[in-house]
Amino acid sequence: MSKKIYVVTGANHGIGLETSRAIAAQGAKVLLITRTKEKGETAMADIRSTHPDADLENYIADLSLLGDMRSAAKAISEKHPVIDGLINNVGTWMSDHVLTSEGIETVFATNHLSYFMMTHLLYPSLRKAKFARVVNVASNAHSYGKINLEDPGYSKNYHGLKSNGQSKLANIYFTFELHKQKPDEHVSVYAVSPGLVKTDIGLKHTNWLHTLAWKFRRRKGQTPAEGARTSVFCATAPEVQSVSGKYWEYSEVKEVFKSAQDPELGKQLWTLSERDVWD
Ligand SMILES: NC(=O)c1ccc[n+]([C@@H]2O[C@H](COP(=O)([O-])OP(=O)(O)OC[C@H]3O[C@@H](n4cnc5c(N)ncnc54)[C@H](OP(=O)(O)O)[C@@H]3O)[C@@H](O)[C@H]2O)c1
Repeated sequence: MSKKIYVVTGANHGIGLETSRAIAAQGAKVLLITRTKEKGETAMADIRSTHPDADLENYIADLSLLGDMRSAAKAISEKHPVIDGLINNVGTWMSDHVLTSEGIETVFATNHLSYFMMTHLLYPSLRKAKFARVVNVASNAHSYGKINLEDPGYSKNYHGLKSNGQSKLANIYFTFELHKQKPDEHVSVYAVSPGLVKTDIGLKHTNWLHTLAWKFRRRKGQTPAEGARTSVFCATAPEVQSVSGKYWEYSEVKEVFKSAQDPELGKQLWTLSERDVWD
């Protein structure tokens, strides 16, 4: 692992921080994408407090903004023309319907379009690796998700559960469709459920009711380090290097719920995402 380079999004907290720590602990270089320099420095100091030799770099991007993603990906590719792994982990949960400064609903932009966009922008560097992997952190919340092709930002009848369910379902359809469309056999793609994990995701942009519900629900959750295990396994384990296009939980392949079994929807979501990303 010592010469390998991995990019982790949403790397300063929760599952992303622990994914970065675990991959760095194996000797790889980890490029942490965070919203601010301060958040990146705090995260790197945290990892170095347990792994003083960790090889880390920080790149800044608001991953709900396509312009920021383009800049970060350009900076990464210029410095690192070959990348071995991308872990699309960034995620947010919002009680209210909020548009980004680019006019896209924030959860759809952050939880789905960033996975789509970062993968496309870094794909030229990924395909130059001997073997490369893209890990998309999804969720069993895809079970109640519905891809709303007409109105993916839920401008009408928004609810945090609907936008989260849709985005996590989109992570799985993106994984399956990327597996079909990617031109390179030596690039593998994985959708991962981390299970229920005790993080602050449901406390940041939530109303009092959703905050209370998450505080109650997360009490049964695993630690972020435990929640990171399947991402790290799919990103690094030699035995699954070529097992592309599957859904994983507890480091095992798992069947997706019915909501994720419509191949036509995967194609339609891809087309919609291309339109949102490249227009
Ligand atoms: N926790 C669970 O039980 C659970 C279950 C299933 C799936 N997941 C998935 O796991 C992933 C990680 O979630 P988590 O539970 O570890 O939550 P978390 O602790 O809140 O971590 C989310 C990370 O994403 C970053 N982030 C959010 N919006 C961003 C933006 N616009 N630009 C840049 N960074 C941004 C956060 O940075 P800031 O500190 O700047 O906000 C943070 O580092 C998500 O995709 C989530 O959907 C979690």
